Amino acid sequence: MAFFDKVHEPAEVLDLADGRLMLSRATNGDKVAVANVGGDYHAINDRCPHLGCSLSKARLERTTLTCHCHGSQYDIRTGEMLRGPTKHGAAAYDVDVADGTVTIRPKAASAVA
Ligand code: FES
Repeated sequence: MAFFDKVHEPAEVLDLADGRLMLSRATNGDKVAVANVGGDYHAINDRCPHLGCSLSKARLERTTLTCHCHGSQYDIRTGEMLRGPTKHGAAAYDVDVADGTVTIRPKAASAVA
């Protein structure tokens, strides 16, 4: 039986417990791994830049995300690569919460807006 990961609505990010991750979607349709780090929400592209594993299944320790496939590490706040085998960082997104509404946008798009 095929297994499909549930893509949570951005609004469900508000139910995310501290230190946990979930799979959601940005305004441009990208799948993103969203984290609650001490009440602050951060998101990076869900596709690991190494070989494409889902980063929403990664291990999160404070702001360090460790891919469960081969151990590449990223800073969930910026997408910066912290450790290989990947050679690239992951795209980061802004997570805006206002009046109970959650919006997840690519950082470049929000900078222009
Ligand atoms: S796919 Fe993530 S480290 Fe290899």
